[in-house]
Order: sequence, then structure tokens, then C-alpha cells
Amino acid sequence: MCGIVAYIGKKEAFPILIKGLKRLEYRGYDSAGVALLNGSIHVYKKAGKVSELEQFTLGKEVSATMGIGHTRWATHGVPNDTNAHPHLSNSGNIVLIHNGIIENYSSIKSELKSRGYQFHSETDTEVLVNLVEEVQKQESCTLDEAVRIALNEVVGAYAIVVMDLREPDMMVAARKGSPMVIGISEEGFHIASDASPIIEYTKNVVYLDDKEYAVVKRDGSFLIRTLGKVEKSPAIQKLELKLDEIEKGGYEHYMLKEIHEQPRVIADAMRGRMSAKEGWIKMGGVDEYATRIENAKRFILTACGTSWHSALLGEYLIEDLARIPAEVEYASEFRYRNPIITQNDVVIALSQSGETADTLAAIEMAKERQALIYGICNVIGSSIPRLSHAGSYTHAGPEIGVASTKAFSNQVVILTLIALQVAQGKGTIANSKLREILYELEHLPEKIEEALKTDAQVRKIAEIYKDAENFLYLGRGYNFPVALEGALKLKEISYIHAEGYPAAEMKHGPIALIDENMPVVFLCTNASAYEKIISNIQEVKARKGHIIAVVNKVDEQIQSLADHLIVVPETTEILSPLITIVPLQLLAYHIAILRGCNVDQPRNLAKSVTVE
Ligand code: G6P
Repeated sequence: MCGIVAYIGKKEAFPILIKGLKRLEYRGYDSAGVALLNGSIHVYKKAGKVSELEQFTLGKEVSATMGIGHTRWATHGVPNDTNAHPHLSNSGNIVLIHNGIIENYSSIKSELKSRGYQFHSETDTEVLVNLVEEVQKQESCTLDEAVRIALNEVVGAYAIVVMDLREPDMMVAARKGSPMVIGISEEGFHIASDASPIIEYTKNVVYLDDKEYAVVKRDGSFLIRTLGKVEKSPAIQKLELKLDEIEKGGYEHYMLKEIHEQPRVIADAMRGRMSAKEGWIKMGGVDEYATRIENAKRFILTACGTSWHSALLGEYLIEDLARIPAEVEYASEFRYRNPIITQNDVVIALSQSGETADTLAAIEMAKERQALIYGICNVIGSSIPRLSHAGSYTHAGPEIGVASTKAFSNQVVILTLIALQVAQGKGTIANSKLREILYELEHLPEKIEEALKTDAQVRKIAEIYKDAENFLYLGRGYNFPVALEGALKLKEISYIHAEGYPAAEMKHGPIALIDENMPVVFLCTNASAYEKIISNIQEVKARKGHIIAVVNKVDEQIQSLADHLIVVPETTEILSPLITIVPLQLLAYHIAILRGCNVDQPRNLAKSVTVE
């Protein structure tokens, strides 16, 4: 949510900032801006995409060896040129970019107004930059000290970078609740919300911790302090990310690339963690806390968005295989509803980004109440893994398309492995069953590869239904969370209203919506519910709905009922979501493309939601 990039060093800053903003654009894309410091501060900002900002700066003064850049996802104030970052202080000396929300901005703003400050934008960020200015005036201190004092007055979440015209050889970066990485190279410092704008310049990075700030200088020196002014020795880490992982690799869109990466990244998630031949599963995080996990009275799975759908599958898997009660919680509700949590609970937090504000707050609350926290995240070094007692990375590689695809699949694979390992430890699964599932897991990549071959057929179906106003997705058992996820994908990127429902619940509401204009996607790949889902299909057919059925095989019955049959490979029922989801991801993708939507950057959404 909002992307931050900054550079100070020997090179020209502007091209580094623009390239960095393009890499970060998935975090927010309603406006963008840069500030360059070279004897004076030049601020250029524009509503719209980074490309519009780039266009706007053509022929303008952009030469400087230090600068800051921002791509915005609006919280306070509509997306326009004025509200775009960076924001200048009233004197014009200090300039700041910000990701997050300053919750007490209104009281600070009134106070500053009473001291004569004027505000041009509706943002909380302009309040913050003027607060820094006011502190500096009151305390006659350096920029870093003014930032530190100001941040101690602020309530909320932030990642900020600040420059001061009067201190042209340094910049200050700070964070609380929003991510920030500092890349260290011979040629200067690169600061960003994530590693993607940094990777091509250096592999040496420092992840700033919450309530810390860094002062980076043109001469190559830097220091990190807590907001309490305690100096920290920086832990320099090596980035494992590769440049080609964050590029489109010949695909037209990141989302399509990521859908097609699923066979490979699923194999990556399993590598070294299981063997079907030898019948073992080994998740480091589970091993570390084996006794506590196996003896847990309850699992609570918490997440937001797509990750919540994998959490729902996690509930089914854990109860089914490990026979431990499991509950699923929207992190945003869980954190505020005073739930009963004890030290006998294991709380699994699922998050692609590892930064979702509500999920983070949910685990902080559960940790205080003594639960064991297990993080399942994709972004290495992100906040949730760092806050968790134990965890497993999903190893899906960078996911840049805003609508999550491969991260979902890998979360489900990890949850399956955890459920199996606990089941094996507790003896709740027969060895033959375990072997069968492990064998099927090993064969998943090739079956998903097969499922991807439905692409051309799915595109044809997309052409028929691209103008639909509503879609219904129905599934039972393990296919119910897939129905939710299929509907979410369509909604997110094509702006068609879509709902996922348990197939039998259709009779309690959605059936009223069915007429000759309603396409209904049925997920019929679970053998145990096949007859029942056929009955549901008949109910839709009787009301003239259009039926798109995802099946494992074609029989006479389904052939006579469905308008379109998408055949995908069969696997054991608990793994079927990993195959069934593939044509639904493709359907959403093709419909969105046919409707002329921006699939990688759908309107109003952001990849990483670091505000509540
Ligand atoms: C946003 C994204 C979704 C994602 C959700 C949770 O809404 O657009 O794709 O599923 O956040 O994100 P997380 O990083 O916690 O999985």
C-alpha cells in the first residue's frame, strides 16, 4: 500500500526513482511523485500512473544525486496532483514521502494551524512534514532528531523518507507498521518499501525494524537508531531475489505469468519438505514446536482476502487430517472482538505480503494472550514471519499481479503439509492414506500443467460471458473455498459482481437471482459430493441459468445439463482445489482482458494493505 523509493549517492537519482516506482507500482497506483534535491528541491507529482509522471517530467530539471519517490494508494484525500506525494513543509525546506496512516493527524493539524501553518492538500502526510518542521524550529535540532521527536508524537502506521534542503548530504528513513528496506552499495543507498527496486543495484540490505530510523549519508556512512534514540548495529542481509523473478518473462501480464508459474512454484514449496517414496514430511516450523502443535486444543487460522480463502481450506485440512478443532477468522474482526485465546491455541497467520495490517495486529493480540503464532507468508523477512514464533515460507517467488494466484496455491500446499505432518505425529492418518496424498502432491505440478491447457477453451467461454453483470460460483466441501476464490478473482479484476456460495446454500438466497442472464460456475471435481452437486445444477438449469461446470470427467448426465464443460485432471479430493482453481483464475483473467481492464493493477485495490 503506497510504494516508497529513495536514493542518495554518486549516481543520477531520477532514473533510479522512476524505475523503482514502476517496480513498486503494484502497491498503489493512483498518483505518483518525486522530489529531487540539487541546491533546491524540485517536486514533480501527478495523478495517475508512473508513466504519466514520467511524461510530465520530460524537459524538466531532474538532475540530482539524491531524491525520493512515491506511488500512492489514497487514504486521506482523493487521488489528485495536490494530494500526491512528496509533500513539502511550509518553508519549502523539508520534503517527505509516507506510506501508512497518521491517526492523530487531525489534532496535530489544528495545533499547527494555530501556529500559522497552512495546508494545501487533504493528506495526513502534509501534517507530518510540517510537524517535523515545527519540531526543528522549536528544538533547533538536526533533521534526524526532529524526525525522531515528531514520530514520538504520532499515532499510527508509517514508513517515511525525509530530506532537508539545509542538510543536502543525508536523508532519514523511519518505519512503524509499514515495511522498509535499505540497500547498501558502493554507489550509494537505495531505500524502498520492498526489495524489488533495489535488487539490480545491490544484494546487501538492512530491513528496518518497527520504531527504528536510519540516517544515510552521501559519504557512505549510516546509522540506525530506535525512536528511543538507542543505536542499533545493523544486520546486513543478502537478498536472494533474482531480477528475472520480478519481470514479466514474455507474458503480457504479471497475473498470467504467475498463473502459469504455479506448477513450478508448487514444486518449490514442497522441495525438501516431503518425500512420497519415503513417507515423510518435514516442516521446520512444525518440528520446532512439535509437542505444542500436536497437543494444541485448537487451531485458529487468520488472514484477509485471498489468504482467508486458503485459511478456510486450512480449517478443512486440519480437522480432516489432524483431527484438531480449527476455526477461521477474518483478521480485521478477530483483532477487535475480544476472542478467547489460550496458550493451548495455535494461531496460523496467512499472508502473501507478510505485511497486512489487520493480520499483523491479530497475531500481536493472540501473542499477548499466549497462543503459539505460526506465520505462513511469501515475502521473506516481512513483518509477520518476524513476529511469529515459527512458520513456513511459501516460496512462490515475488507475486506482483494485485490479484493473488500462485501465492494462494502455495499457501494451500503448505497447509496440507502442516496438516499431514501433525496428523502423522498424532497418528490420526493411516500410513497408506498419507502415502497416497504425498504421491498425489508430488504429481500436482504436472496435473496443474494439464489444467493450464484449458486456457484456449476458457478464453472462448470468457468471450461469451464477458458482458454478464453477475456471476455465481458454487461448490461443496473442499470446492466451496475455491468458489469463493473464483468469485473474488472475477470481482477484483473484471469488476463484474460475483459471489461464491456453498452449492446447497444457493436455495437460501442466490436462487432468486437466477434467470437466463446468470452464468453459474459449478465446481464438480469432488467425487463425494458429485450426485448432490448434479442436483444443484438441475435446479439452476430449471431456472434457465447458464452452466459452466469444472469436472474431472464427462458423463452423460453432466453433458446434458452444462452449457460448458471444463475438464481438469483428477486428484485426491483434498488436493482438488489446487487444480480446480486454475480455470477459474484463467476465466477471470480473460474476462478482464476482454473488458479492457488493467488486470495487474485493478482499480481501487492494492497488493499489500498496510493500513486497517
Ligand atoms: C489485498 C490484495 C489481495 C490479498 C489481500 C491479503 O486485498 O489485493 O490479493 O489477498 O490483500 O493480503 P496478504 O498479503 O495478507 O495475503
